[in-house]
Amino acid sequence: MSTFLIVDDDLASCRTLQLHFRTQGHEAHVAHSAAEALAARGRIAPELVILDVRMPGRSGLDALPEIKQAFPAAHAIVITAFHDMETTIQAMQRGADDYIQKPIDLEELNAAVAKSLRYAHGDAQGVLVASANHAGGDRDNMVGHSRAMKEVFKTIGLAASSGATVLITGESGTGKELVARAIHRAGLNPSGPFVAVNCAALVETLLESDMFGHERGAFTGAVERRAGKFASARHGTLFLDEVSELSHAIQAKLLRALQEKEFVPLGAREPQSTDARVIAATNVDLATRVRDGVFREDLYYRLQVINIHLPPLRERKEDLHDLVEAMLARINREMRRHVWRVDPQVLRCFEAYGWPGNVRELENALMKAVALCPADVITCDLLPAQMCSTPAAITSGDRPEAQWPLRDVERLHVLRVLEATGWHRGRACEILGISRPRLRRLIKQYGFAVPACAADDTEEHADDARA
Ligand SMILES: Nc1ncnc2c1ncn2[C@@H]1O[C@H](COP(=O)(O)OP(=O)(O)OP(=O)(O)O)[C@@H](O)[C@H]1O
Ligand SMILES: [Mg+2]
Repeated sequence: MSTFLIVDDDLASCRTLQLHFRTQGHEAHVAHSAAEALAARGRIAPELVILDVRMPGRSGLDALPEIKQAFPAAHAIVITAFHDMETTIQAMQRGADDYIQKPIDLEELNAAVAKSLRYAHGDAQGVLVASANHAGGDRDNMVGHSRAMKEVFKTIGLAASSGATVLITGESGTGKELVARAIHRAGLNPSGPFVAVNCAALVETLLESDMFGHERGAFTGAVERRAGKFASARHGTLFLDEVSELSHAIQAKLLRALQEKEFVPLGAREPQSTDARVIAATNVDLATRVRDGVFREDLYYRLQVINIHLPPLRERKEDLHDLVEAMLARINREMRRHVWRVDPQVLRCFEAYGWPGNVRELENALMKAVALCPADVITCDLLPAQMCSTPAAITSGDRPEAQWPLRDVERLHVLRVLEATGWHRGRACEILGISRPRLRRLIKQYGFAVPACAADDTEEHADDARA
């Protein structure tokens, strides 16, 4: 049983909610104005305040911060007939934990109440994964304690001071650029420039001039002499990202720059010397490109004097905790938030997920979750649906299945049926014995990611229209 305080000037609405909560076994107090609610301070200790916005006297939004102060243990659900963006934003900024529109959909209200109570009772307190004084909050700091990452760190250490060319390989988002920067920082010229070139971003002529520079009049539009990235990287590091995309002509020029330590800017006669250290990265298999004849073999060997391979995140899940910790520290600092906790369920989902976008995908998900987090715990509902909806990820705490609440059993069962029918909603409804609109609501409620290939034929839409 929990204690609720309903603050609404509409007597009928108060009465309905009071009855609703009482039949669920809760204690429900009512107040008809913000002042009346504040006057109950010290007399009652609600775990949840349901607050209307428009009331005579002070508006609910106006009083919200004071109400949260008066009842420090309470979570607040704001209810209003106004569902404009402005009011919603204001409500969340003033400390509302949820926001529901009138007329109230009891299912929606129940879900919001259940969520708030979970926080209030500490079930969703989450594991403390980070704190303000975490040292790893630096953007350039790489974390991870998997065997693979330990090897990477060791190789960075060995490679850095050798000055040798390094080829960094790994899928997109695995941290290749971060490794390049780490090598630069630990290298012979840490205070020199770190200059990055994305070899896939420019058309050939522009890329050539971007890398090697040009003389005035070297091509139409070359109104001035310009130094290229090779020259800018003097006494420092030149990072060639997506090196597989270089044309044959530029490959030849790059090979010369690596071997002879000199290059000729476009339109120039005299070569320039270079001492820039070259680090290249690619997310494709360069050896295959060599076999296919699109990448020069001699350049390939010249680039990968030292090779550092970053395995995909799905192959080093033991790094997840370190990554979440370090990223939360940084994101909180950058967003001035204090979201230090993560629901254990989230960590289980992360374990089960395949991470096609690797560390970058994790980082983006955490940024979004922190930005949208109403309290200080990251919960599954704040994450992209696909991360938290694999059957393997659905569990209910560490409890055995026989002790699960109905909600979790329902969630798991609905998902299993959907997957078993290949997301054919008609067949899933038949098996589950429910209507299509109900199934649609469940899919939405549980945040399942509908696969792009899922059968969603016109017949279904026609059915929905009839329902
Ligand atoms: N081990 C790590 N520790 C902390 N942050 C990491 C780690 N690996 C990657 N990141 C972060 O993940 C994001 C992606 O990393 P990065 O840009 O280096 O990947 P990439 O391999 O260069 O990707 P792409 O191939 O798409 O260019 C960055 O914001 C980076 O800071
Ligand atoms: Mg990159």
